[in-house]
Amino acid sequence: MSEKPILVTCGLPYTNGPCHIGHLRTYVPADFYVRYLRKKGEEVVFVCGSDNHGTPIVVSAEAEKISPREMSERYHAHFDATFQRMLVNFDHFGMTDDPTNHSRTRQIVEALVEHGFVYSKIIKQSYCTKCRRFLPDRYVEGTCPHCGTQARGDECDQGCGRHLEPGEIKDPVCMVCKTRAELRDQEHYFFKLSEFKEFLLGYLDGLSGTLNARNYAIGWVKEELHDWCITRTLDWGVKFPGRDDLVVYVWVDAPIGYISFTEEWAKKTGNDWKTLWCGENRVTHFIGGDIIYHHCIFWPALLEGAGYGTPHSIVASGMVKVDDHKFSKSRGYVVWTNDDYLDKGLSPDYLRYYLLSYTNHTKDLNFSWKVFQERVNNELVNTLGNFVYRSLYFAHKEFGGIPDLPARKEIFEQIARSFASVDTAVQDYDFKIAVDEMMALAAFGNNYIQTSAPWKLIKSDREAARQVVKDCLVLVRALALLLEPVLPGKAREIWEMIGSQGSLDLCTLDEALQNLRPGTLPAPRPLFPKLEDEFIGEMDALLRKRVEEAGQKNKKTETVSIEEFSRLDIRTGTIVTAEPVPKSSKLLKLQVNIGEETRQIVAGIAPFYTPEDLIGTTAVVVVNLQPAKIFGVESRGMLLAAGDRASLLVPKIEVPPGTKIR
Ligand code: MSP
Ligand code: ZN
Repeated sequence: MSEKPILVTCGLPYTNGPCHIGHLRTYVPADFYVRYLRKKGEEVVFVCGSDNHGTPIVVSAEAEKISPREMSERYHAHFDATFQRMLVNFDHFGMTDDPTNHSRTRQIVEALVEHGFVYSKIIKQSYCTKCRRFLPDRYVEGTCPHCGTQARGDECDQGCGRHLEPGEIKDPVCMVCKTRAELRDQEHYFFKLSEFKEFLLGYLDGLSGTLNARNYAIGWVKEELHDWCITRTLDWGVKFPGRDDLVVYVWVDAPIGYISFTEEWAKKTGNDWKTLWCGENRVTHFIGGDIIYHHCIFWPALLEGAGYGTPHSIVASGMVKVDDHKFSKSRGYVVWTNDDYLDKGLSPDYLRYYLLSYTNHTKDLNFSWKVFQERVNNELVNTLGNFVYRSLYFAHKEFGGIPDLPARKEIFEQIARSFASVDTAVQDYDFKIAVDEMMALAAFGNNYIQTSAPWKLIKSDREAARQVVKDCLVLVRALALLLEPVLPGKAREIWEMIGSQGSLDLCTLDEALQNLRPGTLPAPRPLFPKLEDEFIGEMDALLRKRVEEAGQKNKKTETVSIEEFSRLDIRTGTIVTAEPVPKSSKLLKLQVNIGEETRQIVAGIAPFYTPEDLIGTTAVVVVNLQPAKIFGVESRGMLLAAGDRASLLVPKIEVPPGTKIR
């Protein structure tokens, strides 16, 4: 083949938590695409790896008291094993913290510096005086400067979704100790993304892949393009060349991982990685819609600036959600790939089928156990499974195997038409349509065996029944070949049951158009167990419970922002006089000196203190509480006390009345 091999990659999973089925919307369609191209005889290299750097991993590792490397190795192994269980087969699965990526990143950053695309600048950075460190990215939270929503240091994850540059976030608070952060000067390095506007508009115009990726990116480039700070004050990561105190931003070395993993693969297999990356190439990135900006803007500009070829295609999926909610472990909106799915004994093929065919690739997908059950039972069990089983069973029972006669021409024509429709859909990255077309062939077969009814026909015309059976077996073989990219496990089982010679992996689609050789067939096994209502009900209940419990927990730990807190005017106050409130056994009427004035406050502390105990005591008062009348006596403020015995809060070190509590 004269053309270069296609290189397919997937967005690299962060190594700070387990795989959920949202992740799979990157990996399953990519694996489908690779398997499909191979079925057409194309040469494809499929690489991925784990993304080990960045603050979320450091924060999680700190919480578990292990090193970020240990944390990364743990989840790296987890993702690797999970992908294998899901039948997602990478040719190589590397780690961004491995030496290849450290050196490739250094080389690319040095090239950017050399080409004049990097400059240093003193910027204001969030700094925690209590923890005594700068607070990059996830170490800080505050308000988004664009939309005002509560945001993380590097992204407005709950609001407008914008990427935030260091120092941009308003009212920063340290994530570790919750102290209000201050801004301090620090030298950082910037990538001149703004200089790539013209380049990017041209590049995006010719970019292949899905339109959502291209169109969003064009919109963003036209709107604004500011330079990116590409260094962080962290120990964990790839050191910025010449600076021991800084590492490069994770979004620099993560996509470079795509190149490093290709290098590692090439070394392992005796190939040259450069042919896949340099100049005109066929690099195809599969990602989720949440990281389009990074892949369509930042990444091609980096590559261009460093003198590398830019990616040929970017294929971006819609997001997997639960009840329209973003996946979120803390909010309970999550379905785990292992715990909730594979470990329950469910087939990876069922989930692959659902993820690929439920909706168009670029649309969001609301996961629902009920819909999952319906799709599997109606389509895989009732249509495909039924057709395959009836064909094989009848062939075995009446003819002992595959009859020795050619299948009808119309059958081969039908198969060829299906292949063509599937191919158009795959070229358009419309995997749903592609799978629908495949299933239409299964429905055709099911309809054919149903209407021809060979079990009846055989009584009057054995030869005609033989023909129908042969036709059906040819369709079954075509379905095994065609559906292998969707259902690698089930397709192999069908392939073996039909007695086909050789490994299914090595056979291409052309095989389906050859005559099917006669042979004996054993009795088939049913391959597609039905999903029972009871089980699906349990799984759905588990998800509901998880969301509800998370809701309750979040309510308990609900936080107030520093702004909300600062609306309270709390000060020290010295009690000047105290006397009982008539007709009340609990209340005392106090005059409290709060600095600029003396206020009347009614407090329910009579059972615990005599007036003499209190006079002269400096306690803590909420000054701007709405005034109220208690037993007809006006109260303008509240004395703070702890517990059932109303232990008054008093300052440890003496302070004058009216001192503000902060
Ligand atoms: N580490 C980055 C990607 C770096 S690529 C150089 C990242 N990691 S991730 O673990 O959050 O996500 C890994 C892949 O799964 C990404 O392609 C991401 O888009 C995808 N998805 C993660 N959650 C998703 C959904 N809920 N729905 C669809 N895809 C999502 O992003
Ligand atoms: Zn702190």
